Amino acid sequence: MSESQEQFAIRVRDLVVGFGRQTVLDHLSLDVRRGEILGLVGASGGGKSVLMRTIIGLIPRQGGTIEVVGRPIGGRTEGAATTWGILFQQGALFSSLTVRQNIQFPLRENLVLSQELMDEIAIAKLEMVGLRAQDADKYPAELSGGMTKRVALARALALDPPILFLDEPTSGLDPIAAGDFDALIGTLQKTLGLTVFMVTHDLASLTTVCDRVAALADGKIVAIGPMRELLQSEHPWVRAYFHGKRSQMLQHEMR
Ligand SMILES: Nc1ncnc2c1ncn2[C@@H]1O[C@H](COP(=O)(O)OP(=O)(O)OP(=O)(O)O)[C@@H](O)[C@H]1O
Ligand SMILES: [Mg+2]
Repeated sequence: MSESQEQFAIRVRDLVVGFGRQTVLDHLSLDVRRGEILGLVGASGGGKSVLMRTIIGLIPRQGGTIEVVGRPIGGRTEGAATTWGILFQQGALFSSLTVRQNIQFPLRENLVLSQELMDEIAIAKLEMVGLRAQDADKYPAELSGGMTKRVALARALALDPPILFLDEPTSGLDPIAAGDFDALIGTLQKTLGLTVFMVTHDLASLTTVCDRVAALADGKIVAIGPMRELLQSEHPWVRAYFHGKRSQMLQHEMR
């Protein structure tokens, strides 16, 4: 394995993505290191979800290259389901399936396993995300917001992928539930050695759980580094984002 394959989980070069006449990502480049938690911030509608969906091959690109664990993305992306787990922004669990069936869905799609083994895996994943075996037979409508996120996370981890994509995982959670979820992500990253790519607006998540933060503006990554470095960034959008009123308190805490 080459040095770059060992060091980087995801490498994006000169990525161009647009819809009709709208260019969303404009020669964007980004490296995600193996084993890190990378936070991605950017204006609403700026292209964060589009970037994530393009990396996993759901949106076609007009230009550029993408490598995930050393393999180019594009054309056929076989084995993708075992390479990454995804928690989408519109967090959808299948409402007609139980928690257990939701977690088993990727297993059924990708592997041939006995029902007994799938049940064992579902319970193990539930416990891994801090839920109990009793929750397995509930339907999504019977879960709290925080539990729903955890089940979605358990489903994303069903196939033990090395990379986890999270699109605003703590949005809609109260600060305590959001903090608990962040702590869970941090623990899973450490125990499983996951690489985590996390889109978030949550300043607490960025400061507590992310190793590095990348800022997306004008279709490009305009700043990337530890949170402390981003706070020093001279880029106008990054300054406005982190030095606006809402973030003043947090920064005060960090000093
Ligand atoms: N499938 C699509 N077809 C056409 N346009 C799209 C599609 N998906 C996204 N877009 C457009 O791409 C732009 C970026 O959208 P995206 O969802 O990536 O924003 P975002 O940064 O995730 O915003 P938010 O923080 O609100 O989630 C928007 O203008 C959106 O309308
Ligand atoms: Mg989005």
